[in-house]
Amino acid sequence: MIKIVESSEEMRRLVKGFKNEAKRIGFVPTMGALHEGHQSLVERAVAENDVCVVSIFVNPTQFNNHEDLEKYPRTLTHDIALLKEIGCSVVFAPQVDEMYSETEINSLFDFDFGGLDRVMEGKFRPGHFNGVVQIVSKLFALLEPDRAYFGEKDFQQLAIIHRMVEVMGLKVEIVDCPIVRETSGLAMSSRNERLSAEQRQNAAGISKVLFECATFAGPESPQELAARITEAINKQPDLSVEYVEVVDAKSLQPVNSWATPTVVCVAVFCGDVRLIDNVKIAPR
Ligand code: PAF
Repeated sequence: MIKIVESSEEMRRLVKGFKNEAKRIGFVPTMGALHEGHQSLVERAVAENDVCVVSIFVNPTQFNNHEDLEKYPRTLTHDIALLKEIGCSVVFAPQVDEMYSETEINSLFDFDFGGLDRVMEGKFRPGHFNGVVQIVSKLFALLEPDRAYFGEKDFQQLAIIHRMVEVMGLKVEIVDCPIVRETSGLAMSSRNERLSAEQRQNAAGISKVLFECATFAGPESPQELAARITEAINKQPDLSVEYVEVVDAKSLQPVNSWATPTVVCVAVFCGDVRLIDNVKIAPR
């Protein structure tokens, strides 16, 4: 039987019960509008732990654009039905005032990112990662998970969560999970729901270009590769590049060679929908 919990108080009681029974808690934080990418995280959390808790909370403090927050898809009934089917034990779906005081909502959460937030998403969405760390640290404190599962589509978020766990000295194990793609190659994202059928087809151009261009890593420098990818994506119908960055997989700082594990990260507008994707490149 799946349990739907809205209050932190009840969630705390449940967690205490799990701990008393020495049950290992696997946690998947989400903002809802679940798709097969989330499903893969939840299935893994179900398989590897005694109980699986999924949070569904559209976190207002990580949106630096009010319209983006308003337009974020909300599909709670569908999400709960899916989670029930795949063996999730508890859905934690609080209201905003359950998670934040007025003061917290209106002030920037302070965290030392060690530079991880100065590039890519952090540069283009100021304050975004402060909000992510704020909510994830709150959820970790409440749910005390043994393991927490995050997708590699949000590569920078994952690097920042690893840093948060290290800096805050948390005991949770962070499990990195591979990107799940639609048959077309488009990385699964809740934002894909906002694309028209034609845009969705065109958005597949992002991963197509990434995979084709990745083969030039080595013969071309990171800067040349970034320029090639930018040009190729911008040539595709409906697509407009916001950034293409070739970065070190750990520090997320731009690289000049292919000596270390590297990731090519992109943010691309398809119409007015902002999509991100990435591809890893092994040292060469
Ligand atoms: O990746 C997301 O959906 C969100 O950033 C997260 C981790 C659930 C925090 O709100």
